[in-house]
Amino acid sequence: MINTRKDTAYWDPARKGFVTNYPNFLHWKKLSATEMADTRPLNVYVHTPYCIQQCAYCYYKTINLRGTNKAQRIDQYVDALCREVELATDYYQLQNRPVVSVYFGGGTPSLLNETQLQRVIEAIRRNLNLSDATEFTVEAEPVTITQAKADLLKRLGVNRVSMGVQSFDEGIIKRSNRLDDEKKVLRAIDIVRTMDVAVNIDLMSGLAEETRETWEYSVNRAIESGVQSITVYKTELYTNTPYYKEVRNNTLDLPDDDQELIFMDYAIGELTQADYYPWSFFTFSKCGQYQQKYATSTFLGDDCYAFGTSAFGKLGNYLFQNSNDEQKYMALLAEDQLPVTRGHHLTCLDAMIREVVLGMKLVSFDLRRFQSRYGFKLETLCADTLADLQEKGFITLTEDEIRLTHKGILYGDYSGKSLAKRLMEME
Ligand SMILES: C[S@@+](CC[C@H](N)C(=O)[O-])C[C@H]1O[C@@H](n2cnc3c(N)ncnc32)[C@H](O)[C@@H]1O
Ligand code: SF4
Repeated sequence: MINTRKDTAYWDPARKGFVTNYPNFLHWKKLSATEMADTRPLNVYVHTPYCIQQCAYCYYKTINLRGTNKAQRIDQYVDALCREVELATDYYQLQNRPVVSVYFGGGTPSLLNETQLQRVIEAIRRNLNLSDATEFTVEAEPVTITQAKADLLKRLGVNRVSMGVQSFDEGIIKRSNRLDDEKKVLRAIDIVRTMDVAVNIDLMSGLAEETRETWEYSVNRAIESGVQSITVYKTELYTNTPYYKEVRNNTLDLPDDDQELIFMDYAIGELTQADYYPWSFFTFSKCGQYQQKYATSTFLGDDCYAFGTSAFGKLGNYLFQNSNDEQKYMALLAEDQLPVTRGHHLTCLDAMIREVVLGMKLVSFDLRRFQSRYGFKLETLCADTLADLQEKGFITLTEDEIRLTHKGILYGDYSGKSLAKRLMEME
């Protein structure tokens, strides 16, 4: 493509040969005005910052509404969300882009009452183009699920519910400062299963007081529940959590990394034996079906418009985040201003690294797709790192694909981070 003129005389030193454009018109093809409109697929994320508890391990910046007038506070937030949907759609012409998935995350979106859920979902449907959307997920905390809410979500087109369970062991649930118990969790699972939607439950490995027995109990109860998908997160210790304070004060000893590795190894074994196969290193779905569209699409670099305080998304070459101050977020929208307050412009190298480090979460990485998007062969750029990962048993490698092995899945982001590090060295 660079060599638009093959005759060598063109490249000889001379003052003639004015460059008018690149590439020159010989390479141009027929194009109509409509083809230039941005019609690339879009994912939509909607954030609810509220919870009714502060879980001891949780690192999310949430607002605990326990004991307050929830309805009034959330009503004001819903007003702001609906306004943001209108303003951003108009400003970025989002209505031209086919929405492929919608994800309501939190905090706890299932804390919204029926009227509030209906208002937000209708605002999304009214402003954006959801006619091709194949997935609509709502995150839910088991104690907030009622049959009426489940019926409404079903009527409004929700087809995936993701519930935080974390543990089925009563002692661990209490130690985590959650309001659930095993009975309430199983009841909530029964309710969402009547919706005839895909149900995911989150477990956390390495919580306080976890033993081999309690972990095996949780994994097996999760499998017996018959849900379509089970996510297992490694408990990460963050400085903004009650756990962290306790660890620092020597009043809490969390299972160490070696112990947690044994827990995860056990979970992978039991889940695969029960026909739950990993499509990401942390999510296992029944017979390999129900692969989550939202995570797959966003990990592979598709755009995601994110609504709500502190929500972060991606539009073209920009990563952006809304104000993480709930009051400021609402005040900006009350003045008809978009609440975006920080972001990052992705260079071509950033975009490549991002796609590798996020794409490797998906167990299988398509090398030909990467080459067609960036014009480089990852297997050439990272030949030494790939050989090392292969030799140490983290991946298998073919001409077209990098695939995480059992060990690669167990070590989570390690393979993706190793490749990203190699690419960063090229800067
Ligand atoms: C927004 S919450 C899910 C919905 C709801 N708020 C609930 O807890 O039931 C998302 C998930 O993040 C995970 N999570 C929270 N804190 C974590 C931590 N410190 N390490 C790893 N995973 C964590 C939990 O598994 C939780 O279910
Ligand atoms: S785990 Fe869920 S319910 Fe608990 S504090 Fe975090 S977001 Fe809220």
